[in-house]
Amino acid sequence: MKRLIFATNNKHKVEEVRAALNGTVEIATLAEAGLQGEIPETADTLQGNALQKAQWVWERTHTDCFADDTGLEVDALDGAPGVYSARYAGEHCSFDDNIDKLLATLNGKENRRACFRTVMCLIEGGIPKYFEGRVDGQILTERHSNGEGFGYDPVFMPDRFAVSFAEMPLAVKNSISHRGLAVAKLTDYLKNKTL
Ligand code: IMP
Repeated sequence: MKRLIFATNNKHKVEEVRAALNGTVEIATLAEAGLQGEIPETADTLQGNALQKAQWVWERTHTDCFADDTGLEVDALDGAPGVYSARYAGEHCSFDDNIDKLLATLNGKENRRACFRTVMCLIEGGIPKYFEGRVDGQILTERHSNGEGFGYDPVFMPDRFAVSFAEMPLAVKNSISHRGLAVAKLTDYLKNKTL
């Protein structure tokens, strides 16, 4: 069976990809592949970071691998925080710090349109290939949460829904989300190759 290293130790992400692949491809995390250390993420685009992370694995293993990078892009902020979404409020900030900063920055602004974008980079035989997922919606004026999700979920309401990502069951979020769509494209590609 084809084996790929996923450049992450985030259990949530690994479970999501394994479920989508349904046993057709074996996925190893960084830890399972015996890789340690911080992977640099210093590019200024999602595509650049996804490539950088996947290349880090490829250079050490010469095993086919993939990585992802995600950002929240807010129209009224010219696409910020974008590739800097994780550290929008500072180097070691929390999800709550990021949301507080976002709500304060958008205070009084009428245009609250935003999207989440995920880029996945698959390296096969040293050649990168990209898969992208995007979901459009708006930034709410305050948190709405049932305790689901993470990150900016309490303040992001996807189009055609009346609830935030943090009020949706995970399966519903995954079926429409940026990462869910990128994973679906990646898994379609891999499944077609292994048939
Ligand atoms: P990463 O590239 O997947 O680590 O995502 C970067 C940052 O984007 C995270 O630290 C979160 O703040 C935010 N983020 C990524 N995915 C989501 C999501 O599905 N919901 C809310 N925030 C997210």
